Amino acid sequence: MKRVLRGTYSPPPDKSITHRALFFSALAHGLSVIKNPLATGDCLSTLSAFKKLGIQVSVQKKIWKVRGGLLKRPGTAINCQNSGTSMRLLAGLLSSQNFDSTLTGDASLSKRPMKRVMVPLKQMGAVIHAKDGNFAPLKIQGNPNLRAINYQLPVASAQVKSSILLAGLSADGTTTVTEPTKSRDHTERMLKQLGAKIQFNPNSPLSSPNKVSIKKGGRLKSFSMTVPGDFSSAAFFIAAALIVPGSDIVIKNVNLNPTRTGLFPILKRMGADIKIIKKSLSGFEPVGDIRVKYSTLKGTDIRKDEIPLMIDEVPILAVLATQARGKTEVSGAEELRVKESDRLKALAVELGKLGADIKEKPDGLVIQGPTALCGAVCESYHDHRIAMSLAVANLISQGKITIKNFSCTKVSYPNFLGDLKKLVKNS
Ligand code: S3P
Repeated sequence: MKRVLRGTYSPPPDKSITHRALFFSALAHGLSVIKNPLATGDCLSTLSAFKKLGIQVSVQKKIWKVRGGLLKRPGTAINCQNSGTSMRLLAGLLSSQNFDSTLTGDASLSKRPMKRVMVPLKQMGAVIHAKDGNFAPLKIQGNPNLRAINYQLPVASAQVKSSILLAGLSADGTTTVTEPTKSRDHTERMLKQLGAKIQFNPNSPLSSPNKVSIKKGGRLKSFSMTVPGDFSSAAFFIAAALIVPGSDIVIKNVNLNPTRTGLFPILKRMGADIKIIKKSLSGFEPVGDIRVKYSTLKGTDIRKDEIPLMIDEVPILAVLATQARGKTEVSGAEELRVKESDRLKALAVELGKLGADIKEKPDGLVIQGPTALCGAVCESYHDHRIAMSLAVANLISQGKITIKNFSCTKVSYPNFLGDLKKLVKNS
């Protein structure tokens, strides 16, 4: 009996958008309503941070109501756990407050670089002390008199851009951030809708330098929004349908912001049968449904300027590449070394254990396919996206793949296996 993926699937709510909805509802005047928030590890870290900062949040099933207002000095350190987005965005926001604060994180977050936000924030007048000048805990001495800067990001990063924009919301003058190519723009879209004095172009070319400016003084309006499905979570199901013969699934209500769907054109080049079958605008963001069918894939080269638009999808792309005919080469992806794990190394080692022909290079991966995958005991490196990528590989491997510490998926997708099981049918 063969197993195929069939049916309709709704991915969990978007993680990046839930974080931002919490930040901006906390800063807005009045009561905001966040419908369908992602209530998992990373976003709960942001939620508890704002509770600690004195913001009232009522948490009901699938609805969070946030009463925005002035932030209060937290009694103890704010623990961002595993969430880089929480720590980097909070660093920007807390730099401009009239109180001091400390941000801590778990073992993995404490090894991730924070200098990338500290450098621009310090230029704005922020006072931040970090372990070895780069790592959490971050001790922030609030300075309500930040000054605007004109900052060129060395690497496109939505977390760093958003951190600077949050500080820029209350800095004197116009803060301008330019990134070499566009990273996800949820912060800009939301700030614009909520009345901030922000300038950016949602339709600017994705692979060209991207400029965003913000001025102090725009009072943020409270809002009601529904968080759409997370394309980065859906990507695992797209990949599963593409590599399990006979599969045909429809993914409903997923965020289709072009700064997030960079995997799409790459899959098209690989010969994937994937189509957007419905598209509309929901609040600040484009959303829609996608149909994906099993496809015979061929390898492709992924360029540096494509990486920011699919930064979280490289692990699952590597699994796909093991099943594609010919060479897939990922370049300009050194940022993957400073995610929840060193993802380039993790992928080379773990997919290698499964029999993939995969080589690590300083800035990427070279994968030759197709290769049959075997079973093995694999490490997740406590990295949710490595764990879920290996679980997709398990659908086609000849033996069982055991993934250590699979529970690390709780930061973004606790019910990943449950949702996958619902789609897997015997044919
Ligand atoms: C995120 C931005 C990306 C991404 C992360 C979430 C965000 O990080 O990898 O999972 O919500 O802003 P970088 O901005 O560091 O590339």
